[in-house]
Amino acid sequence: MKYAMFCSSATGNTGMLGQVIEELLAGETKVENPEEADLVCVGFWTDQGGADESSRKLLKTLHNRKIFLFGTAGFGDSQTYFDGVLDAVEDNLNDSNDVIGRFMCQGKMPQAIRDRYNKLKEEVPNQGAHYDLMISNFDKALTHPDQEDLVRLKAVFKEAAAKL
Ligand SMILES: Cc1cc2nc3c(=O)[nH]c(=O)nc-3n(C[C@H](O)[C@H](O)[C@H](O)COP(=O)(O)O)c2cc1C
Repeated sequence: MKYAMFCSSATGNTGMLGQVIEELLAGETKVENPEEADLVCVGFWTDQGGADESSRKLLKTLHNRKIFLFGTAGFGDSQTYFDGVLDAVEDNLNDSNDVIGRFMCQGKMPQAIRDRYNKLKEEVPNQGAHYDLMISNFDKALTHPDQEDLVRLKAVFKEAAAKL
């Protein structure tokens, strides 16, 4: 089986997922050109509720491929949120492609974001409850991707790869 791996990761979270997938694919043939691949793995980080720019650009170039999508997001902690992001990510693909599996989990964010929430909380006191929620979400994300996320990823990927 030939596979291509495209993994966009600004701070390393999605990179952790890509590494787990690469380990599962050890022994298979890695190719650079997606046109030659039986499976194209595309990892993204969430930006404005969808895929980051380089992933969006890459997805738009794919035709007639079997694709495994994976990514991380700062928010979420809910499959409904992840499904919305994944649907937005898939919108970059044309219909000739077949998404054989997809996976998302939370990913930690830089401390500067928490500092900004704290500052905004002081500046806009009537939004305090909102910023408390954002801070609580930030803190939940701090440990992700965690081992449980990686175990789930392995299961989802294996199920998808069995369809090839
Ligand atoms: C500029 C920027 C925009 C972001 N926008 C979102 C967003 O819209 N929704 C979300 O859930 N997380 C958002 N995040 C959080 C990242 O998607 C998250 O931390 C992700 O795990 C980063 O992955 P990476 O470490 O592979 O780069 C944003 C982060 C940055 C830096």
